[in-house]
Amino acid sequence: MNIFLNKKILLIICGGIAAYKSLEIIRLLKKRGCQVKTILTRNATKFVTPLSAASLSQEKVYTDLFDEDNEAEMDHISLSRWADIVLIAPATANTISKISSGSADDLASTVILASNKDIFLAPAMNVRMWEHPANKDNLIKIKNLGYRIIGPEIGDMACGEYGEGKMTEPNQIIKAIEIFFNNKNQNQKFKAIVTAGPTQEFLDPVRFITNKSSGKQGFAIAESLRDNGFDTTLITGPTNLKDIADIKIIKIKTAKEMLDETLSNLPVDVAIFSAAVADFKINNVGKQKIKKEKNLNLILERNIDILSHISNHNSLRPKLVVGFAAETDNLEKNSKKKLDEKGCDWIIANDVSKSNIGFNSDYNEVNIFYKNMTNELIPITKKKIIAEEIVKRIISQIN
Ligand code: CTP
Repeated sequence: MNIFLNKKILLIICGGIAAYKSLEIIRLLKKRGCQVKTILTRNATKFVTPLSAASLSQEKVYTDLFDEDNEAEMDHISLSRWADIVLIAPATANTISKISSGSADDLASTVILASNKDIFLAPAMNVRMWEHPANKDNLIKIKNLGYRIIGPEIGDMACGEYGEGKMTEPNQIIKAIEIFFNNKNQNQKFKAIVTAGPTQEFLDPVRFITNKSSGKQGFAIAESLRDNGFDTTLITGPTNLKDIADIKIIKIKTAKEMLDETLSNLPVDVAIFSAAVADFKINNVGKQKIKKEKNLNLILERNIDILSHISNHNSLRPKLVVGFAAETDNLEKNSKKKLDEKGCDWIIANDVSKSNIGFNSDYNEVNIFYKNMTNELIPITKKKIIAEEIVKRIISQIN
């Protein structure tokens, strides 16, 4: 099957000597049956002509933000909506810097900022520019924003120097995009459930017991599953997070509601239990508000463990069941115990005693404990990147 057939690629060519290779990218994409529209930045037109790009792509080429003829036909918003993916090749240090600061002063940067699609960058620049701390900071920033970086490679440069900064060869860029499309396509047959956020256990109609979970890690995992083609359901306790497009979101309050919704959304191929479920609920929730008394004695009873229940389900157990562990001490021992006792396939543990990661932070550091393999550390990084790393491992496991 030709995964490229009828795919729409928006190619942005920036001003660098590697721009001449981008003509080869157009040729290879066209050969595979893609529709390719091209934007040339002003500097790119000094390296390749719009006519060459137009001849190879058999499409009009866009060069300036205020081209009234082209704008009337297809403006910067429709250009980015039209595409299945955006490829920036070569991506210069200047373009990377503009993306990282959100600047939009020409057609290319405006389209990038306005895009709602997956964006790939194939950087190309002199080795000193590549290694410059400012460029490295910009790269970290844009990676955290979800941009996908291809290369660069190490080798002889057009400027006569040697080092890292050469644009990845066109056929390798095509290969990276092919892997992306293949993953998306292959995963479309898979269904996933993610639980996230805290639960609330009511004492009376106005009061409840809850915890500090923000839901950020679970939401990031659900989003990454969606980006990789999974049909995703997110079952979440109350959070301040925005809904994620194109996934089914079910909002619950109590652990019992989370369990019921999980069960009624099975079967799935993968279930990830990242919610901080309250371990206890109040026995006999009153219909009236509890009145002030000298002391209040609450009787708490155990909530059912959703992760254990689903892991041990006779008929509805997903192929892959992943639990989380929030630990303040003895992380390895407690996580391994949870892995054994709950019957799941992996436990992803985070140390919630550290103030800079875990609960409410945008950052996390996790240790993945597998049933039959040694554990693996994903060092501190944005929760979004942790989510992508986890989803990568899920994909390789279920495929
Ligand atoms: N979990 C669950 N249902 C519960 C409690 C926990 O599904 N009633 C799941 C969580 O979503 C997580 C895993 O179990 O995937 C571990 O949760 P954690 O709070 O770390 O541990 P507990 O099992 O609650 O044990 P403890 O609080 O004693 O550490």
